[in-house]
Amino acid sequence: MREQLEALQQEALARLQEAGSVAELEQVRVNILGKKGSLTQLLRGLASVSAEERPLLGELANTLKNAFNEALQRRMLVLQEEDLAQRLAAERLDVTLPGRTPPLGGIHPVSRALDEIVRIFSQMGFPSAMGPEVEDDWHNFEALNIPADHPAREMHDTFYLPPGAKGEKRLLRTHTSTVQIHVMENRKPPLRVIAPGKVFRCDSDLTHTPMFHQVEGFLVDEGVHFGQLKGILQRFLRLFFERDLPVRFRPSFFPFTEPSAETDMGCLFCDGLGCRVCKGTGWIEVLGCGLIHPAVLDNVGIDRERYSGFAFGMGVERLAMLKYGIQDLRLFFENDVRFLRQHARL
Ligand code: FA5
Ligand code: MG
Repeated sequence: MREQLEALQQEALARLQEAGSVAELEQVRVNILGKKGSLTQLLRGLASVSAEERPLLGELANTLKNAFNEALQRRMLVLQEEDLAQRLAAERLDVTLPGRTPPLGGIHPVSRALDEIVRIFSQMGFPSAMGPEVEDDWHNFEALNIPADHPAREMHDTFYLPPGAKGEKRLLRTHTSTVQIHVMENRKPPLRVIAPGKVFRCDSDLTHTPMFHQVEGFLVDEGVHFGQLKGILQRFLRLFFERDLPVRFRPSFFPFTEPSAETDMGCLFCDGLGCRVCKGTGWIEVLGCGLIHPAVLDNVGIDRERYSGFAFGMGVERLAMLKYGIQDLRLFFENDVRFLRQHARL
């Protein structure tokens, strides 16, 4: 028994030195001190030795156990340090390397222009309203004083959809003036609203895309007149373009306004001297407007004797092109990331 214990001590200490990793060390511990370990088994054998020998052997076994445990701890510390040093070397991070910046999204210039328009009108007391993009004939045409045989319909290049469940005509709205009708059908004057949104026309070239954005604005109250319309639009254009530019109103025609006007502003690119953008005229057309036609008020049940109103509608892409110096309308919708990056704002 004594020889066995001494032999085991030699062997155990040698194995500890051989263990090359924390995991191997743990295996050595199990082999010696585990339930089926060699020392554990020897200790069990103590029961069968004679009573005189037992205390001495017992003490020897204990000394061995303590020595083994101590050696195990020491070896463990050495291995843990080695382990750490190895990981530090392998997983080294160079904190001085420049970071990799993930690409950031940005606001599309059309959205930016829309936000800006909405913000300016909201400061002038015009809250926003929305209307549907799929419309019926009434809201897009009839109620706006454009009957079925009216030549003005041809200016609109309408996308028609298959008829609805009750056979009603359905179409993609060609302008945001539809929202005038929705609001006036449901609310009583005084009214003051702007309506931003997408509109659709079967039309595509350098200056036209099949989908574009408009902002409609209108006001209905007692005693509304053209001078107020002029004042509001002039103020809007100066705030939007952040410049004290000239604004003029040119007689025009829309079935739903009377009188009607096209609004021009002084060309931003040549200060009115005449250039390619303004085709040498010094003026750029930016929106349509007028006093709401009494027939439209009749159609929505508003008393034409008591109330009058004005309305205006502007193309957002057109305003964005002028403000941000973008030459081709189609760039807005091609989604070329170089263009988007150039104009992105957070
Ligand atoms: C209208 O759509 C009228 N509803 C505007 C209006 C409202 C007048 C209220 C009076 C009272 P118009 O068809 O001209 O009008 O379009 C208005 C603006 O939309 C144009 O000045 C132009 O800037 C823009 N626009 C028209 N067609 C296109 C297109 N295909 N692509 C991009 N912008 C367009
Ligand atoms: Mg026009």
